[in-house]
Amino acid sequence: MGGADQVHITRRSSMTANGDNVKENHGGDTRNLPVDAVINLDHGDPTMYESYWRKVGDECTFVIKGFESLSYFSNPNNPCWFLEPKLEEAIKNLHGAVGNAVTDGYSIIVGTGSSQLLQAVLFAVTTPLEHASQINVVSPAPYYSSYPEIVDLVKSGLYKWAGDAHEFEKDEPYIELVTSPNNPSGVIRGSVVNREGGVLIHDLAYYWPQYTPITSSLDFDIMLFTASKCTGHAGSRVGWALVKDKEVAKKMTKFMEVNTIGVSKEPQLRVAKILQVIADRCKRFGSPEGDDFFEYNKNLLTERWEILRETVKKTQMFTLPKYPLQHCNYTGDVTQAHPAFAWMKCKEGIEDCEKLFRNHKILTRSGRRFGSDPGFVRVSMVGRDEEFKLFIDRLSMI
Ligand SMILES: Cc1ncc(COP(=O)(O)O)c(C=O)c1O
Repeated sequence: MGGADQVHITRRSSMTANGDNVKENHGGDTRNLPVDAVINLDHGDPTMYESYWRKVGDECTFVIKGFESLSYFSNPNNPCWFLEPKLEEAIKNLHGAVGNAVTDGYSIIVGTGSSQLLQAVLFAVTTPLEHASQINVVSPAPYYSSYPEIVDLVKSGLYKWAGDAHEFEKDEPYIELVTSPNNPSGVIRGSVVNREGGVLIHDLAYYWPQYTPITSSLDFDIMLFTASKCTGHAGSRVGWALVKDKEVAKKMTKFMEVNTIGVSKEPQLRVAKILQVIADRCKRFGSPEGDDFFEYNKNLLTERWEILRETVKKTQMFTLPKYPLQHCNYTGDVTQAHPAFAWMKCKEGIEDCEKLFRNHKILTRSGRRFGSDPGFVRVSMVGRDEEFKLFIDRLSMI
């Protein structure tokens, strides 16, 4: 298995602790799961969102005719010439409606997921290399498990993974990846190194009202977002960066140009449609129909977290993080976070929490992968209902 939350589509059979030969579920269709199915909660595959989009029906359907979208170019007048104008408009409208990020004065760069944009930013902020050696890239543990893999994949001469930001003591330039809310732990974070010569990249994939209270409209220099975690359309592979510095934006565009000559228009147009639909529905928060996207999915996650906390309390085997009550500017409520992942700690004496879950046919991601302790696991909370129910049934029997 690779490190990313990207879906790994290998299918294999595996022997469980009981010796049963069972088929693993790798994020495919899980309806009618057999009671002894292996539940894959390792990836953050956002299939939970299907229920909302089913309700929406045809409102997001759009047709592309054979003669449309042939050109490489989307908007020659925009420095990011491959960004579809409709997507740019929908991104601005959605951030405006939710109030989670400022877009005025920012360049928007679209990418094939925010994973590609992360590579584009690393390239942009490290070129031309003015230093004798590669720039250190750090993030405080527990950090998103894909960061080390993304940073070191091509063994760049420009930058290198330097591990846990808490332990970074070198007197050298650095880049800090600030993930807020954090994957895996769900906590709101700021930078930790705070020294001169540092560049901060804010990964805000989960800064949306279904996961966490929106306490301010953020205006950091470099902010990354993704449709994967905002709307659940991970399969469309669309992410966007909001970048203050025009030179950085230009270099990111250059990276995308050389890497993939831009981003496919079809998913951009699809995501534009989807973002605009939820931006329009934002105005109806608290409506009796409950058709606000964020309200509907926040309710789903709240319910799941309540069930999980109750079950964990009964088992007395695990602990979960506690999140502060905060006023959410979007919903108007005082609420706590309901993250996309549960960061579970096994009670003292159990050294390998991932193994414990695996023995109960539940696949999770070990704390070790996040630069942390194997006494922790990360469990996806955004899978389908049936998977979640089966997970709770199994958990209550541990
Ligand atoms: C914190 C964080 N950043 C970035 C990504 C990458 O998302 P994508 O490439 O699907 O846009 C993920 C995916 O799980 C994530 O959790």
